[in-house]
Amino acid sequence: MTSRDYLTIDDFDVDGKTILVRVDLNTPMDMEGNILDDMRIKSHIPTVIDLEDAKVVLMAHQSRAGKNDFTTMKPHSQRMSQYLGKEVKYVDDIFGTYARSSIASMKKGDVILLENVRFYSEESITRPASEHSTTHMVRKLSPLIDIFLNDAFAVSHRSHLSIMGFTETLPTGAGRVMEKEISSLDRGVKGGERPCVFVLGGAKVDDSLTVAENVLSNGGADRVLVTGVVANVMLAASGVDIGSTNLKFIESQGYTDQIERGKAILAKFNGQIGLPIDVAFNDGGKRVEVHVSELPDGNLPINDIGLETIVSFSDEIKAAKTVVLNGPAGLSEVEPFALGTHEIIKAAVQSEYSIAGGGHISAEVRNLGYEDKFSHLSTGGGACIDYLAGAALPGIEALKTAATRYRLNR
Ligand code: 3PG
Ligand code: MG
Repeated sequence: MTSRDYLTIDDFDVDGKTILVRVDLNTPMDMEGNILDDMRIKSHIPTVIDLEDAKVVLMAHQSRAGKNDFTTMKPHSQRMSQYLGKEVKYVDDIFGTYARSSIASMKKGDVILLENVRFYSEESITRPASEHSTTHMVRKLSPLIDIFLNDAFAVSHRSHLSIMGFTETLPTGAGRVMEKEISSLDRGVKGGERPCVFVLGGAKVDDSLTVAENVLSNGGADRVLVTGVVANVMLAASGVDIGSTNLKFIESQGYTDQIERGKAILAKFNGQIGLPIDVAFNDGGKRVEVHVSELPDGNLPINDIGLETIVSFSDEIKAAKTVVLNGPAGLSEVEPFALGTHEIIKAAVQSEYSIAGGGHISAEVRNLGYEDKFSHLSTGGGACIDYLAGAALPGIEALKTAATRYRLNR
C-alpha cells in the first residue's frame, strides 16, 4: 500500500483481472485520418506493459462531436499495437453487446480498445461522479470489470462520464501516466529545488495569471517570467503603450479586464514578475526588434519577445534549479517568431528539473527533438494549466475519494 492519497497499479493484484483503463489518446489527425503526432498514444504504453498479466480494456476519446477529426479509434489501436509489439484489438462498440461479449471472452494478456467514448453523447455531460455512476454505460460495463484505472490526466479536468462514473462502482486507481503527471507537476507547483522559475506564455491569459497568482502566493515559485500574449497584457498593466493592434487583439480574446488584474498582480508581487524588455514586431512577416521604452505609435502586432529579453530570461532560466514552461513565447508556428520559444526551451533543459506543458509548447519541444531532454513533458493542455493553477481536477479528486472508500472497506 502506498502512502499516496490515491491508489495505483501497485496497490492491486492485477493477475488475471479485467481492468478498464481510461486513457487519453486524443491526437491531432489530418482529413484522411492519419495520425500527425502520437505522443499521447506512446505515453500509455508503460501502463499497458505493467498490466501484462491482466485483461486490459482501454477506453478513450478522439476529438469532439462536430469536428473534422472526430473519428474512430481504429488508427490509435494500430499505432498502439506497433509500440506494444502485440495486438491491441479495436472493438467498434462502447458498451453494447459486441463490446460486452468481446470483454467477456478476453484472455490474460489481451488488450482491446473500445470505440471513441464521445460517440455516446452522455459521455460529455459535466456532472458529479454520483450521477455518472448510474448511467447505462457504467451499469452495463461494471459487472464485467474488476478494477478501473484513470490514466487520462489530460482530460481529468473534465467531470465527464468515463472519468468519473466507474470510480463509484469499482476499485479505482491511477495508471502510470496519471501517477507521473501528479508527482512531476507537484515538484514544480509545490516547489522543488530552488530557485524555481515559471515561464508563462501563450494566449490563455486568464489561466496564466491564475497560475502566477497561485505559485507566487503559495511560495511554489520564486519568479514568474511572462511571454506571449500574457506578456503583452502585463506590459499594458505596467503602463507600456503596446499599441492599438495589440490592445485590440487582447480585446478580441476577451482579456481587456485582465489588464486591471495584471496591475494588481504587479503591485502585490513586485519584483517577482519578469516582463520583457524588448519585443519583436511582425512587419509584413519580418521580425523587427524594439525596446519596450521605444515602442512606436502604430499598428504592428507584437509576435515574440525580443533578443535582449531572450538573453536575460535565458540566463535566469539556466540559473534556476526548477523551471516550468507553459505556453509559447510568441507566434511559434511562424518561423521568425519561433525564436523566443525555441531559445526558452533550450535554456530550460539546462536547469536541473524542467517541466513543459500545453499543446503548443510541447509541439515546439518535439520540433526541436528535445522531448527526452525535459524532466517532464506533460501530456495535458487544459488539465496541466488547471493543475499548475492549483485547481482541483475532478478526475483526480475522484481518485482520492475512491481510495478512501477502498481503504475503509478493507
Ligand atoms: C485534450 O486534448 O485537451 C484532452 O484530450 C481533452 O480534450 P477536450 O479539450 O476536447 O475535452
Ligand atoms: Mg483541450
